Amino acid sequence: MTAEPLADFLNRARVRVDEALARILPTPPACPAIVSDAMRYSVFAGGKRLRPILTLAAADAVTRAGHTRVGDTRVGHRFSGAGASADAGADAGADPDPLRLALPAACAIELIHTYSLIHDDLPAMDDDTLRRGRPTLHVVYGDGIAILAGDGLHAEAFTLLATAPALDDPETLRRKLRVLWLIGSAAGPAGMVGGQAIDLQAAGQAPGHPLTLDADGLRGMHARKTGALIRASAVSGAIMAGAADDLVAAMDGYATEVGLAFQIVDDILDVESDPATLGKSTGKDAAGAKPTYPALFGLDRSRALAADCLERAHATLTAAGLTGGWLGPIAEWVVRRKS
Ligand code: IPE
Ligand code: IPE
Ligand code: MG
Ligand code: MG
Ligand code: MG
Repeated sequence: MTAEPLADFLNRARVRVDEALARILPTPPACPAIVSDAMRYSVFAGGKRLRPILTLAAADAVTRAGHTRVGDTRVGHRFSGAGASADAGADAGADPDPLRLALPAACAIELIHTYSLIHDDLPAMDDDTLRRGRPTLHVVYGDGIAILAGDGLHAEAFTLLATAPALDDPETLRRKLRVLWLIGSAAGPAGMVGGQAIDLQAAGQAPGHPLTLDADGLRGMHARKTGALIRASAVSGAIMAGAADDLVAAMDGYATEVGLAFQIVDDILDVESDPATLGKSTGKDAAGAKPTYPALFGLDRSRALAADCLERAHATLTAAGLTGGWLGPIAEWVVRRKS
């Protein structure tokens, strides 16, 4: 456990991520104003920033655990000093630290997540008009610009991963390539895109007979559509901080549980909460015949299943010696959150 309260860490991480995102996103004349404005409208609408927070918390936790690779780029050693900017787009000027090496991955995942929300809200998908407390992007800019803003954020994420941190030593390049592969796989057809496609098939919004999902099928869909990016968030933080393979595996196990708990709670809040609290419409899942935990198990059992995930997440952290940072409190927040 750390002396710093969770809320302070969350605020610190959010400020850091938001400052970096503001620097990273292109502006005219590099891109047309309408694309820049549309991307920023959605990115800075006030998301929780759970995924980049997890990336930074994972980098912090493995560094605290002291199980990073022997003789490698332990941040704050090899890369402190002039000419060793750990990051091109994200945080120039400060002393390198583990969070700094992980910051580009944190920002890239938030860009991909925001793109996924923009597309998820389109009339062809969930047809939502409220997101992050604002009218959805397509309501304001039209479907075409909303699709392109999502595409733009997706591409910017990989541009960022390729260019930052701007260190060309073999160890950092190896970590960057691993993280690039990890995030690409998590975002793509084997991960988020695949999960979203299953969601549409199960809701009868795709060609063919609607899919019927049993408990395993539902867990699998949630693991792809939400879990994959959440896993990639924590694991990329661990990799960028130089975690040894056993810690990377433990981080993956922890984040798998957090990811499932997160989507179960999202499903519960769609039933129990209200638009003013959530900043997005509610009651949409039942109306759209979406496959959800409350629909399959009811609310009480869904809450119990989320609590089981939390317990397994804590057990994984304990077994791996990763209880020293904010990962445990973040898992609690994910399950107990009201928005
Ligand atoms: C909403 O994610 C979409 C899901 C994957 C359930 P968040 O609840 O993290 O959305 P923001 O980023 O805080 O707006
Ligand atoms: C969407 O799940 C997950 C994404 C990949 C964006 P939902 O459709 O349940 O997300 P919300 O409830 O609209 O945020
Ligand atoms: Mg959806
Ligand atoms: Mg939706
Ligand atoms: Mg939802």
